[in-house]
Amino acid sequence: MTNTRFLSFEGIDGCGKSTQAKLLASHFETELKDVVRTREPGGSIGAEAIRGLLLTGDTDKWSAETEILLFTAARRDHLERTIEPALAAGKMVICDRFADSTRVYQGATRGDLRGKVDQLHATMIGREPDLTLIIDVDPRVALARGLARNCGEDRFEDFGLKFQEKLQSGFLKLAQEYPQRCRLIDGNRPPEAVFKDVLALAKQ
Ligand code: TYD
Repeated sequence: MTNTRFLSFEGIDGCGKSTQAKLLASHFETELKDVVRTREPGGSIGAEAIRGLLLTGDTDKWSAETEILLFTAARRDHLERTIEPALAAGKMVICDRFADSTRVYQGATRGDLRGKVDQLHATMIGREPDLTLIIDVDPRVALARGLARNCGEDRFEDFGLKFQEKLQSGFLKLAQEYPQRCRLIDGNRPPEAVFKDVLALAKQ
């Protein structure tokens, strides 16, 4: 059993967090039966439509500032229509990415836009997960995994290795900034080994 109701996974592209989110959801489903696994950008009809706009096309399709608006719009819809109703119904929510991705991807990689991300988050979202598990992996390994998927939603992978390295250091800083909520997990290991740590932390 766990007291955590709203849990998010974070990390760079190809870090393996989606696999961990699936494993954790099926674990809790057998115990609780009331788990909603969802993802960002997406997780509601409107947010999935915005996802298509964000993840396809050239790297220069949107500026980082416009991305902040689009990711936050998607998050607001996701929160209103999926996350809040699930939490209100007593369900556990496991979310593949949340606001920390905007703090790092848009706030810390292409200029310092963190202040703008935080302002918009405070006005339009105003809530954090109870627990955030950051899966930390070597960007080279992660990039190889990410591109190997070749799913047509590769706009952020296409920014390249330097971008992924900035993301990694951004997530490490974030873990220091929110030591109560964020926990770092070494993702450079087989999924079963990573999952042991995920489970131990999620059950605390
Ligand atoms: P996705 O294919 O779901 O990648 P992953 O499995 O790595 O999560 O695509 C989500 C992409 O969107 C990913 O590259 C991270 C990026 N992203 C942001 O840049 N800002 C955000 O706020 C969110 C939620 C995602």
